[in-house]
Amino acid sequence: MSGKPKRIGVLTGGGDCPGLNAVIRAVCKTAMFDYDLEVFGIEDGYLGLIQNRIKPLTSMDASGILTRGGTILGTSNKANPAQYAIGYDENGDPRFEDVTDRCLEHLRHHHIDALVLIGGDGTMSGAAPFIEAGINCIGCPKTIDNDLVGTDLTFGFLTAVETATEAIDRLHTTAMSHHRVIVVEVMGRNAGWIALHSGVASGSDVILIPEIPYDLGKVCEFVEERSRWGKRFSLICIAEGAKSVGGEQVVAKIDPTSPDPVRLGGIAEILADDIERVSNIETRAVILGHVIRGGTPISADRVLATQFGHHAIEVLMNGESNRLVVCQDMKITDIDIRKAANKQRMIPADHPLIRAARAVGTCFGD
Ligand code: F6P
Repeated sequence: MSGKPKRIGVLTGGGDCPGLNAVIRAVCKTAMFDYDLEVFGIEDGYLGLIQNRIKPLTSMDASGILTRGGTILGTSNKANPAQYAIGYDENGDPRFEDVTDRCLEHLRHHHIDALVLIGGDGTMSGAAPFIEAGINCIGCPKTIDNDLVGTDLTFGFLTAVETATEAIDRLHTTAMSHHRVIVVEVMGRNAGWIALHSGVASGSDVILIPEIPYDLGKVCEFVEERSRWGKRFSLICIAEGAKSVGGEQVVAKIDPTSPDPVRLGGIAEILADDIERVSNIETRAVILGHVIRGGTPISADRVLATQFGHHAIEVLMNGESNRLVVCQDMKITDIDIRKAANKQRMIPADHPLIRAARAVGTCFGD
């Protein structure tokens, strides 16, 4: 692409999260009002690009959506144009095809010369063939997991933490009344950011994250010790990707057609059974699952999403190419989009919040 774009496409890819509509709004309004650009919405992430489901957006489409959860464009966490599932072979294995050319044809047909990609590492990885073909791709970092490399914060994360914290607060009172252990599982894929933050915010007694494999004996000793000194209940906040020392992550489902086929989930039930068996304390498991991905974004996410969407258009109109908008040290800036592809940002073992949590008596099962 040469010169400044006149027409841009916007898509939301990967799992949805609160704040997607706030970014779409900021992208559309900045592009339309400040730069007189035409904006086209691509439905269901890369899937809409593959299937040519691309439609012009008006300022009315971008109006009244700041507070709405989900995405008005729809999303998909299955379609990657470079490796698109087109059916199954005789062994029942999926067959893949590179449909990048088809997508490029659709972009040419609509005269779209730049893309704003709102997504996580999968969406940013999917940008590679378009960058190679000369399409300017600007990314906005989305995911409740907060695991995108290069940014301290992704929008959607803080709302997910808020929802999880409120749920754990509610479980706290019922755990106390029944003198039970309650194991609460939160999403997060292979990273423990949601569990760490909602665990600390809710005063969970035990926080278990993928980055620190847990020792069942130590977790049981901890809840038993609490019982002995009068706290006859315990709250355990566990990330879906957590595992015991020498154990494996619990896989809920494999979707072979998805670029990231593993769906984690179910560790809470296993741990709850283990605690009841070893410590003989009545234990329940609660899996929050997709609940923390839904609903209206909290104010901090609305602000972040607005900043991200606005910055994406500024970067584009400043003539820069293939950038990912990021938040570093509380400032909105941008990095090469390729730096975020195919990587996940994990919690370092010496993270200050882990140190603070340990200092106030939280057990990490190690
Ligand atoms: O990446 C967001 C996320 O919600 C993860 O926390 C979770 O592991 C995964 O998506 C669930 O995916 P799906 O919506 O396909 O079940």
